[in-house]
Amino acid sequence: MKKMNIGMIGAGFMGKAHALSYAAMPMFFWPAPAIPVRKMVADVNEKAAKDAAERLGFESYTSDWRKMIENPDIDLIDIVTPNDSHAEIAIAAARAGKHIICEKPLARDAAEAKTMLDAVKASGVKHMVAFNYRRTPAVALAKKYIEEGSLGKILNFRGTYLQDWSADPNSPLSWRFQKKIAGSGALGDIGTHVIDFARYLVGEISEVMASTKTWIPERPTQSGGVDKLGTVKAAENVEKKAVDVDDEFISLIKFENGAIGSIEATRNGWGRNNFLTFEIHGEKGSLYFNYERRDELQVCFADDPEDRRGFRTIYTGPAHPYGEGLWPIPALGIGYGETKIIEIYDFVKSIVNDTEVSPDFNDGYQIALISDAILASAEQKQWVKVEEKSLIKTV
Ligand SMILES: NC(=O)c1ccc[n+]([C@@H]2O[C@H](COP(=O)([O-])OP(=O)(O)OC[C@H]3O[C@@H](n4cnc5c(N)ncnc54)[C@H](O)[C@@H]3O)[C@@H](O)[C@H]2O)c1
Repeated sequence: MKKMNIGMIGAGFMGKAHALSYAAMPMFFWPAPAIPVRKMVADVNEKAAKDAAERLGFESYTSDWRKMIENPDIDLIDIVTPNDSHAEIAIAAARAGKHIICEKPLARDAAEAKTMLDAVKASGVKHMVAFNYRRTPAVALAKKYIEEGSLGKILNFRGTYLQDWSADPNSPLSWRFQKKIAGSGALGDIGTHVIDFARYLVGEISEVMASTKTWIPERPTQSGGVDKLGTVKAAENVEKKAVDVDDEFISLIKFENGAIGSIEATRNGWGRNNFLTFEIHGEKGSLYFNYERRDELQVCFADDPEDRRGFRTIYTGPAHPYGEGLWPIPALGIGYGETKIIEIYDFVKSIVNDTEVSPDFNDGYQIALISDAILASAEQKQWVKVEEKSLIKTV
């Protein structure tokens, strides 16, 4: 069977998730389009790279990602580093003719994302941006209902991503709170997943009207580059430094097809852990999804008899998208890992079969344009059209 050699850059949270998906993909989807071989892992922190090779099952490691890109044996570069290094790595990988999967957000802002899109277009490599939540079977099922017309014309989209891991002012100033590294705060980190849902399910967003807030203006500094996502609290008397990104945003949105809606995200919502939701109303029905109950899609159809009309719950299983490779009984449980396994399956399949895959760098760029428009709108306190000329350079 065909093999595909993987070089992964970054050995933190997403390094673990992506390594798992390379190992597990053929166990779920068989025959696999190709067997991923975990060839080399890179991390700026040499010990992290060495440990990752051992723990995550890579044959070799390096602290210099350029060595991996020069290596002719590597077919696919996987970028799982913080956002400030995505562009430099992706452009070098594209020039070297490697296929690329890059974590989201694609870049710190749209201008940077455009340089990445131009590089992959020029080289002709396959590219994907890792908005994996759309590969939750219940979300793909929502897409199927909408495409089949079960909801009729879509009227609106209400999406949220609410978390609480950084609501404690004592959780450290990791890279996620620094504009120079992250580009933006809750917007780029989690809001972009909701923007991806909105575009995937309803269509292109044309205009936004937003407000942003930074609730915790300074946080204790931390040593080391890895973000522990609030699980490590700073010691007493640690120096504090300024947070220069949003903790929360709320945006009204208009779609090109006439639908309207709202998107919001916060990392300060106590009690909300991974409250990634959407509710969509169409002329013929409604859908509701909440990632905290990700095996379920709530559906309501207008043509159900009036005395039994209301939301009902579909538990995803073998009859639903990706069901052929997942578990044999509905509601056995889909996890975060499965969304990443499906993502890698679809990407490797697109490389082997030379077919289109989404979300790709063009989607990543469009999402960056929308994100920049949200920041511009919050600054200008007015509706902003999603187009290059109305954007501000953010980093
Ligand atoms: N799709 C998702 O659901 C999801 C979830 C979390 C994070 N992410 C994205 O994944 C990316 C990584 O986030 P994370 O949570 O894994 O971060 P992390 O802090 O856990 O790990 C980042 C790792 O990258 C290494 N690193 C930093 N700069 C590097 C460089 N220039 N070269 C090589 N290694 C470098 C660090 O040493 C660290 O080991 C980010 O873009 C983030 O937005 C996506």
